Amino acid sequence: MPSPVDKPTRILAPNSEGIAEAARILRDGGLVAFATETVYGLGADATSPEAVARIYAAKGRPAFNPLIAHVTGLEAARREGRFSNIAEKLAKTFWPGPLTLVVPVAEGGSVCELARAGLASVALRAPDHAIARAMLAAAGRPIAAPSANLSGRVSPVTAAHVLEDLAGRVDAVLDAGPTSVGLESTIVACLAGPPVLLRPGGVSREKIEALVGSLSTPVAGKVEAPGMLASHYAPRARLRLDARELRQGEAGLDFAGRFGASSGAAVLDLSARGDLVEAASRLYFCLRELDATGAEAIAVAPIPADNIGEAIRDRLARAAAPRDGK
Ligand code: TXA
Ligand code: MG
Repeated sequence: MPSPVDKPTRILAPNSEGIAEAARILRDGGLVAFATETVYGLGADATSPEAVARIYAAKGRPAFNPLIAHVTGLEAARREGRFSNIAEKLAKTFWPGPLTLVVPVAEGGSVCELARAGLASVALRAPDHAIARAMLAAAGRPIAAPSANLSGRVSPVTAAHVLEDLAGRVDAVLDAGPTSVGLESTIVACLAGPPVLLRPGGVSREKIEALVGSLSTPVAGKVEAPGMLASHYAPRARLRLDARELRQGEAGLDFAGRFGASSGAAVLDLSARGDLVEAASRLYFCLRELDATGAEAIAVAPIPADNIGEAIRDRLARAAAPRDGK
């Protein structure tokens, strides 16, 4: 595996020069972290196995884990994957946006096997972010990008978060400020049979089901997102979920003011007005802030499971899962 970059990471501005430079680095096989509307991605040329190998090296990610290939839209996506009627409908409705579609690889598709982890399917997404879209258009090829964090750590929603994990390990960060959605895309597999929800995310299950009918859940050993390791998105502190009160020594991740006035404890409210979209956009930011206080445990107030709450609860459950060797 090639070694990660090992030189200072350049910060590129979200203007035409920055975009052109990011695209040049990507075409040369380098690594560029860039903002999307969900989280920052760690991008490389998806058609180049050498470039994709650098992503795995920089993240310390198990190489069996396939990556999402980012494209400008459905036209580019059709060159890479075969779209069923349902997949077409989903792409036409939710792209550009926080939805990833896993479809069978198209004959002559350019996304390399390493990016697909050898699977006969490919994950495709057209992000809804002007700077990312301009960069993708300038690169002129699909860009593979997992979230721009070290494997197993909380996903980055600002350029500063990217640098905390990856400074010196990527060529550049295209800094377009904080992301708007704040957690990852929804992943739906459209392979043989009915569509399967592989990961809840930025587009709610309700919206997708209103369009294409009910989504199945993954059958173990059949279609699954191999990256959905139980422990993922993990802060250092232990999480206590659905907490109704704060205990001694805990920091608090609140929702809709449940914990009340705190007695000197570090408490951040995901959304004081109980808005799930606002809560999603603040989730990783708040987890990082509370983790940085050095508290051993973070009590998390109950989050409703409807709409994007399903994705928030999914990420919290993973962050709370026991970790190997810890
Ligand atoms: O919002 C997002 O989706 C962000 C931004 C950067 O686009 N990306 C992201 O990528 O979250 P990552 O690598 O952290 O998560 C991608 C997930 C993994 O769980 C992976 O296993 C799954 O997508 N995946 C990729 N290709 C797949 C395939 N062919 N079949 C099933 N799952 C796949
Ligand atoms: Mg990730």
